[in-house]
Amino acid sequence: MFSNKAVKATLFVSMLMLAGLMPLQASAACNLVSTKDNSPLNIKIVDSDTPEAKEFLTTCINPYTKLYAADPEKAKAGKRKFGYYSCTQCHGGNAGGQTAVSIIDERWQYAKHDTDKGLFETIAGGTNMGMMGWHQQVANNPDMVPTDDILKIIGWLRASYQGGGDKPWLK
Ligand code: HEC
Repeated sequence: MFSNKAVKATLFVSMLMLAGLMPLQASAACNLVSTKDNSPLNIKIVDSDTPEAKEFLTTCINPYTKLYAADPEKAKAGKRKFGYYSCTQCHGGNAGGQTAVSIIDERWQYAKHDTDKGLFETIAGGTNMGMMGWHQQVANNPDMVPTDDILKIIGWLRASYQGGGDKPWLK
């Protein structure tokens, strides 16, 4: 039979586990969804991810957005990635539009693009209307774009924003 002491000890351990688990569940992941069909966009944290990438995949907050808004010199890192992955081919060298839409004005293709999470979902997973998914886990190709580079690009796009209205991504 269990002694009263053993029962108490077990209870105590379960309570500790629960207490430990609850905060984990609350902040476990930024639940990304595909812009194509709203299904889960399964992008995992990998060993090679930067602290910024890990932060975003757990909190949905892009740490580069505020950093680049405050420091245009730093934002250039995002512009370099934009060129490196040839986003320029369709969106133009300064992202103001070429064969494809401007991505620095207030005309968003999808309303959720006023959040960094929404913009990430579109760049990482692609759309049904002409843009492929660029994330290396989505394309299943290590030469494609890792989480951190997408975040840097988004940070630069936000810092380059030319549209009106407020900037909800800075809140
Ligand atoms: C082959 C042409 C092409 C390339 C290259 C391309 N895009 Fe796009 N992009 C598009 C098209 C077309 C759309 C509009 C998609 C839609 O409406 O569904 C789009 C939409 C977007 C949007 C949403 C625009 C809005 O106004 O809401 C973002 C952000 C974006 N692209 C970022 C990127 C980034 C970052 C890269 C490089 C990694 C890239 N694109 C490369 C064609 C391209």
